[in-house]
Amino acid sequence: MQIHSSVADLRAALQGRARVVFVPTMGNLHAGHISLMEQARAHGDTVVASIFVNRLQFGPNEDFDQYPRTLQADADKLAAAGVDVLFAPSEADLYPEPQEYVVEPPAIQHQLDGEFRPGHFRGVATVVLKLFNIVQPQAALFGKKDYQQLMVLRNMARQLALPINIVGGETVRAEDGLALSSRNAYLSPAERNEAPRLYRELNKIRDAIRAGESDTTKLEEAAVAALTAAGWKPDYVAVRQQSDLAVPTGTNLPLVALAASRLGTTRLIDNIEI
Ligand code: PAF
Repeated sequence: MQIHSSVADLRAALQGRARVVFVPTMGNLHAGHISLMEQARAHGDTVVASIFVNRLQFGPNEDFDQYPRTLQADADKLAAAGVDVLFAPSEADLYPEPQEYVVEPPAIQHQLDGEFRPGHFRGVATVVLKLFNIVQPQAALFGKKDYQQLMVLRNMARQLALPINIVGGETVRAEDGLALSSRNAYLSPAERNEAPRLYRELNKIRDAIRAGESDTTKLEEAAVAALTAAGWKPDYVAVRQQSDLAVPTGTNLPLVALAASRLGTTRLIDNIEI
């Protein structure tokens, strides 16, 4: 596997390569990322991964400094997964000057996670468009665990006519149901034990809707109450339409239940399609 940190070196390495498929990450890779790398092969001939902890998508009181940086271990995992090229720029490589031109996503960026992480999706969309311009892939893969991110990026690609197929990869879970996430590393052993409750609450919502319950507000409130009673601090539990993440007008369209909640100091997110 080739590893490049400068934009010029990466461009030179990808010169003339057709059918590049791209998996952007922030590193600290787990089985969810590796599953995306493996799926990537079906969408192109040259698999490029990136590792870059993007300051622009973190709020001032968030975990940018703390975010685990494990480049060597990540590179070993990517090489073992058959990735062809790793792009691992420094901040000076990717942002040699203040990033003043940004991608401003529409109203969806202020809902759900965006309500609690102002500016987050602007930072994500900006870095992803910049990475797309550098790597010029024909396809790019993102995990469905970050459901709203996937939607923002899919809509960005469509509205800006980017010639890139945006592919969503299924969430990979631990045996007890907890969605794999780099932030799980922050959990104490007791919190790790408690953490699958988030997914269990989403499952209860899905089961209730499948059984005919149509009062989604009641289901959201019950999940918030259950999490709170177990010591969590929920940001939101929300049932939304899969197509646009709008509040559903009924329960017979494809829906998704999404949640974000703090367990101790760790903020976990998850979702389940219905
Ligand atoms: O999902 C992530 O890891 C990040 O938000 C991404 C897409 C790599 C952009 O920094």
